[in-house]
Amino acid sequence: MAALVWPGQDDRVSRLRAACAIAAADPPIILAGDLIEKVADLVEAAPRDSTVVVFHSAVLTYLSPAERAEFRTTVRALPCHWISQEGTGVLPWLTEQLPERDSDAARMVVALDEVALAYAGPHGQSLDWFGVG
Ligand SMILES: C[S@@+](CC[C@H](N)C(=O)[O-])C[C@H]1O[C@@H](n2cnc3c(N)ncnc32)[C@H](O)[C@@H]1O
Repeated sequence: MAALVWPGQDDRVSRLRAACAIAAADPPIILAGDLIEKVADLVEAAPRDSTVVVFHSAVLTYLSPAERAEFRTTVRALPCHWISQEGTGVLPWLTEQLPERDSDAARMVVALDEVALAYAGPHGQSLDWFGVG
């Protein structure tokens, strides 16, 4: 993964190494497979008294519009919260919520349970909350 970080982006390498250290100390469960097929079982496997959050970043863009809609229907029927971070336009139901942007820089949209909350830099380098500023 470190080899995928662009040269000169030392902050990203530092963040990645710190995250890997946390993961090594407390390894998460990692399942291989298609997210549409796996997400329901993963949520159902979580302890009943926990607050379950489904989070994804730059992933649904690889699905067709029909698959994104299927994932939306699946996740919304599950006992969980849903935090998405995808490019503008990837989740069309968020588009009408988006405020005008003051720059052409690449932006992701962070949403909680289908409420758009912020623009984010594509690699987590910025977070601009809507309505704060
Ligand atoms: C651009 S990377 C994003 C990685 C990471 N989430 C991030 O924000 O840095 C896209 C990831 O989506 C995964 N992906 C794409 N389609 C998927 C699917 N149908 N099921 C599960 N993972 C998928 C790819 O394997 C890849 O790891």
